[in-house]
Amino acid sequence: MRIAVGSDHAGFVLKGEILAMLKEKNIDVIEMGCMNGESCDYPLVAREVCSQITDKKADLGILICGTGLGISIAANKCKGIRAAVCTDCYMAKYTRLHNDANVLCLGGRVIGAGLACEIVRTFLVTSFEGGRHKRRVDQIGEIENS
Ligand code: RB5
Repeated sequence: MRIAVGSDHAGFVLKGEILAMLKEKNIDVIEMGCMNGESCDYPLVAREVCSQITDKKADLGILICGTGLGISIAANKCKGIRAAVCTDCYMAKYTRLHNDANVLCLGGRVIGAGLACEIVRTFLVTSFEGGRHKRRVDQIGEIENS
């Protein structure tokens, strides 16, 4: 499994913590911008990370901005992307089980590194349940295509 990870300046420090945790677990990562704490624009980061997924260079993505919100709104404009902001492990588990979310969004100014890393681990070990949830996820795709 390969994970693309990006942030804006407000998520830069948390991105470093998450990358360190993923590397320690030998998880294959694609490190994406930003590369320092200077102010940058989260929609551009969202687009770059989501392209890795839609181009099949990554299986899942992690995006971090100050709240997780702006970057998730931008990510959800990309075709084929289902991005979910999670502030706890329950949300991370169920957005994989029921929504087949392919991008996890976190708020670097909202949660600490310990919780964020637990959320990431939960997101990565949980698989889509399918069944009735597939019908609903397909309906989301139909909205996107309409
Ligand atoms: C940057 O100041 C901040 O607006 C951004 O990181 C994010 O929280 C937007 O939703």
